[in-house]
Amino acid sequence: MSELSGRRIVLGVTGGVAAYKAAELVRLLGKAGADVHVVLTAGGARFVTPVTFQALSGNPVWSDLWDPRVENNMAHIDLTRGTDAIVIAPGTADVIAKLVHGIADDLLTTLCLARECPLLVAPAMNRQMWEHPATRRNIAQLAADGATVVGPAAGDQACGETGMGRMLEPDELLEHLIAFFQPKLLAGRKVVMTAGPTFEAIDPVRGITNTSSGKMGYALAQACRRAGAEVVLVSGPTGLPAPLGVERVDVCSALQMRDAVVAALPGADVFIGVAAVADYRPLSAAEHKVKKSSAELTLTPNPDILAEVAARPDAPFCVGFAAESRELDAYAEGKRRAKRLPMLVGNLVQDGLGSDDNQVILYDDAGRHPQPRAPKTVVAQKIVEHLAGLLAMRATRLAR
Ligand code: CTP
Repeated sequence: MSELSGRRIVLGVTGGVAAYKAAELVRLLGKAGADVHVVLTAGGARFVTPVTFQALSGNPVWSDLWDPRVENNMAHIDLTRGTDAIVIAPGTADVIAKLVHGIADDLLTTLCLARECPLLVAPAMNRQMWEHPATRRNIAQLAADGATVVGPAAGDQACGETGMGRMLEPDELLEHLIAFFQPKLLAGRKVVMTAGPTFEAIDPVRGITNTSSGKMGYALAQACRRAGAEVVLVSGPTGLPAPLGVERVDVCSALQMRDAVVAALPGADVFIGVAAVADYRPLSAAEHKVKKSSAELTLTPNPDILAEVAARPDAPFCVGFAAESRELDAYAEGKRRAKRLPMLVGNLVQDGLGSDDNQVILYDDAGRHPQPRAPKTVVAQKIVEHLAGLLAMRATRLAR
């Protein structure tokens, strides 16, 4: 289940080399549960045939304003009604110019003029075309007219040049679309988070760590971002890709994690500690590999990052996590009170560690709020909704 599930999306494919990426986008949209209807311009059909899009979307492909398959010859009206969004990917300089000037000389541009739904455009063109004053004006006007412009990115171009104008990759476009439909519950908020394990070096080849996968923290960072927050994710070693739009700061040890959190805190509204921070570290990491003969290891406690942040006079709204193997309520609520946290997410380790699913209970001053077992992405969304509710309540209290 995603925000795209059951959504009807009209995908306009225009005549750019990036049209080949639109085929993958159709596949990803379909996988996310969207009902995709492709409108292919004459230029687009030069790059990819309608058969490809028909096979991938499972729906007929539309190109002709006068398509006899539409009963009253009103394809430009019929196709937009009940549609949740029109997405144009790739959007050439030419189609963008037409949209801005209200030109409706083919099915896609006519559809856009006749639409009642949002329009998203993913530009794709040569870097010089992108930088041309006419395109600059048109892009500004397109955004001012209420369309959402996603991308482009910089990089290698099909023409052999390098620069701004590459269409975003299909998975990036998908993420933009999911975020587009997400309620902006955390708009204007800055969220600093920790995620993953820490690694406390013993010597150059060994260390103390744990089996935290980082999946819950990364899913939560993505959910906060989709909800409109600026997100800084301070992450221990995980191997997971950073969610789109999230600033990730890579660290290893608890001390590095604390320093990175402190550096990111200015301006933060929320701090969420998801990381499984090692409670202890070797007193000092050996410069050379430790030999069997000197097996003694002296440990010293690590700082409690979450407790330190929550104790600051200018503390942001702090959310903790507690993974327990038994007596969840007692331990979780005990940790919440000991660290003076307005909210804590508790789960049994056997329910979540390393898995794609999780079952959590949310604890706050009002009590415990059990959540159903669900994929971590869905759990993350629930946590964001609960957090946003508490932030709104706090804002109302402060305004009184
Ligand atoms: N935490 C932290 N810094 C630490 C330890 C924990 O920021 N050095 C944060 C975690 O990110 C999590 C919460 O505190 O949000 C977990 O609380 P804690 O009591 O430290 O959990 P455990 O380390 O699991 O405690 P225990 O081993 O005693 O169960």
